[in-house]
Amino acid sequence: MKVARIVATGVAVPDCVVDNHLLSRCMNTSDEWIAQRTGIRERRVSPDTYRMLKKLADAPDKHAYMAEVRAHGLDGDIDSTLAVSDLGLAASRMALDNAGMTATDLDCLINSSTLPDLAYPGPGCVLQGKLGLTSTPAFNLQQGCAGFVYGLALADQLIKGGMYQRILVVGSELLSSAFDFTDVGRDMAVLFADAAGAVVVRAEEADPVRPRGLISHHLHSDGTVIDDLAGEIWGSSTFPMVSKKKVDSERGRPHMNGRAVFSLAVRRVREVVQECLDTNGLKAGDIDLYLFHQANLRIIESIADHFQIDASRTYNNIERYGNTAAASVPLCLHEALQGGRLREGDLVMLVAFGTGFSWGATLLRW
Ligand code: ACO
Repeated sequence: MKVARIVATGVAVPDCVVDNHLLSRCMNTSDEWIAQRTGIRERRVSPDTYRMLKKLADAPDKHAYMAEVRAHGLDGDIDSTLAVSDLGLAASRMALDNAGMTATDLDCLINSSTLPDLAYPGPGCVLQGKLGLTSTPAFNLQQGCAGFVYGLALADQLIKGGMYQRILVVGSELLSSAFDFTDVGRDMAVLFADAAGAVVVRAEEADPVRPRGLISHHLHSDGTVIDDLAGEIWGSSTFPMVSKKKVDSERGRPHMNGRAVFSLAVRRVREVVQECLDTNGLKAGDIDLYLFHQANLRIIESIADHFQIDASRTYNNIERYGNTAAASVPLCLHEALQGGRLREGDLVMLVAFGTGFSWGATLLRW
């Protein structure tokens, strides 16, 4: 019998580090407010966002400066220096190198990004082209923060069904350029950041003595509450998709009801962790390592508290990266692996929750 196993990981984060102090020079916030409520101290952003933030920090009238950027771009330049597929490419190359493979060895790639390079085609196709592939199928998922877990479930089924043998699963995000870093957008701007994570999933013969690989997936969505976390930006919810009127009425940027998201995340993550445990006849204490989506350290603490999971059985890096949506779980997985927190045979649960709302859990044996 075939199993699907993650055989290698890779990550990419931009070089530009934005700490809470820089943000507090752009908007009315503080290191204390952000750290207390979210656990975030710093995050990585694209060079363009970084350049804009440095200027915004020095601007005497923040709103006028942001309005100027929205109207005329940054220094009149419209091309970005880093796109989401560039981050996905760097993470993919690292994962392929670590697997001892080249892109042409892949049967398929599955990419999830909340915001793409282009409205169409999806960033999976852009990434595929940058990898130099000309006929390998590329899936484009847009499942927000749950995208990587959704991608893994799909890869597992494609392998177990016998269709493919080697699949690249990528969660890549360039979110920082969507936010307003003045008081108007401060609720979201302090949370989200840019990064990518990738894994190579490969078909292997099941080993009855030392079983390894993906075990089960538990996916859910609830599209009835999308208004609590959504971004219209260039969608067909407005006519035309992009207009000055849209930008001026604040419908061009993402919006979130933070309190509602917080309580929904806690409820849904609890449910899906329990579902994953029950399905596999496990207790919370049987899991060696939980890798939770890094949305907010307080959400993670609340879940850990509920299941009595002690800190030695979680790995968090939100303090350094903020919320990197679909990239956050593979970023944790990569760092946990590099840091010696994962041993062969460990039971690992990956859990994510995000816009959609979509959420899910994956159980695997490392
Ligand atoms: N700095 C300072 N003050 C702020 C900031 C900020 N960055 N943002 C909001 N505030 C203000 C608000 O305006 C409000 O002021 P008011 O009382 O004068 O109206 C006050 O702080 C409290 O605002 P709340 O939204 O009630 O603050 P709360 O304690 O709920 O914390 C937070 C806000 C951190 C956003 C929290 O609700 C949260 O983390 N929610 C979950 C968000 C999340 O995880 N989203 C993503 C998950 S899904 C995904 O990853 C796609």
